[in-house]
Amino acid sequence: MPNENSYEVALQKSNAIREGLAKTPEKFTMLTGDRPTGRLHLGHYFGTLKGRVELQDMGAKTNVLIADYQVITDRDTTEHIQDNVYNMVMDYLACGIDPDKTMIYTHSAVPAANQLMLPFLSLVSEAELARNPTVKAEMEASGHELTGLLLTYPVHQACDILFCKGNVVPVGRDQLPHIELTRTIARRFNNRYGKVFPEVDALLSETPLLPGLDGRKMSKSYGNAINISMTAEETAKRIKKSQTDSERMITFDPENRPGVSGLLSTAAICTGRSEVEIAEEIGMGGSGQLKKYVTEAVNGYFAPIRERRQRYENDLDYVKDVLHEGNRRANEIAEQTLAEVRDAMGMVY
Ligand code: TRP
Repeated sequence: MPNENSYEVALQKSNAIREGLAKTPEKFTMLTGDRPTGRLHLGHYFGTLKGRVELQDMGAKTNVLIADYQVITDRDTTEHIQDNVYNMVMDYLACGIDPDKTMIYTHSAVPAANQLMLPFLSLVSEAELARNPTVKAEMEASGHELTGLLLTYPVHQACDILFCKGNVVPVGRDQLPHIELTRTIARRFNNRYGKVFPEVDALLSETPLLPGLDGRKMSKSYGNAINISMTAEETAKRIKKSQTDSERMITFDPENRPGVSGLLSTAAICTGRSEVEIAEEIGMGGSGQLKKYVTEAVNGYFAPIRERRQRYENDLDYVKDVLHEGNRRANEIAEQTLAEVRDAMGMVY
């Protein structure tokens, strides 16, 4: 018997939501977010940003959170955070997130949403928090000790989702334990105090995870990612430097030829062609020709996005206005939800 936590069940629900979205988009409230620890890259774009824009344009209610309090879950500084937040807004706008349709906001500007943390913490046990596999993995990857925030941030993520009564959360597979915890918290709150919160489901990406240029997991620390904000020249340089192998004939073989295959996957996603087709076309052209093809594919796809981004880079006042308006709306919604929570809990004096 598959249990409720299993990936297969999440995938089935995700597919059902996709069908529902096509029929009655207005019934869905999406919330998702990013940690502002650096620039967004092609993995973010094809993995989630593009999908957010689609949901937005279909007519779902869409909310995007810049999760600034999550930055300090596994690092001890907020250096560069303001710059990262502004640049994240620029990436969003450049990629087609429309601030008239989508609310863009930050954790730290919405006190009433953060206050949900108190009742929510009372609904989970220490043991439940301690067995979250994603928290464990993040602790190991960062080498950071298990602070109170690292242990409990999945509860805070439930506040993110539930303050706006989100019912669809587009996320990667690693975030499923957090969605499950959100469902648990909503259910327990509703059982204990009366129904306030909706049932939440993950919307899993249909595009397979895009590897980095060298075929490894795409990561800032590996230098194998292309950022949305890079110039065409920076992109060309990064592709030129990426590691391939000594075999001239280009073939798609992710196991044995991670470098060549990472480049092929990057070109494939930008052109809509298959890796094998591109490999066959380049054939004995070798990695020089492959890199030229990838560079043109990436720069061609991102040219209009980057052109828009440049306009926002030159208009920081507008970027700030977008965020201030998003934060204002988020506060309105959070105050409303917190009032319902106080009411349900009998804390109205
Ligand atoms: N934890 C998510 C990540 O690392 C970011 C995030 C914060 C988020 N709050 C969220 C995602 C709420 C979905 C819903 O990518």
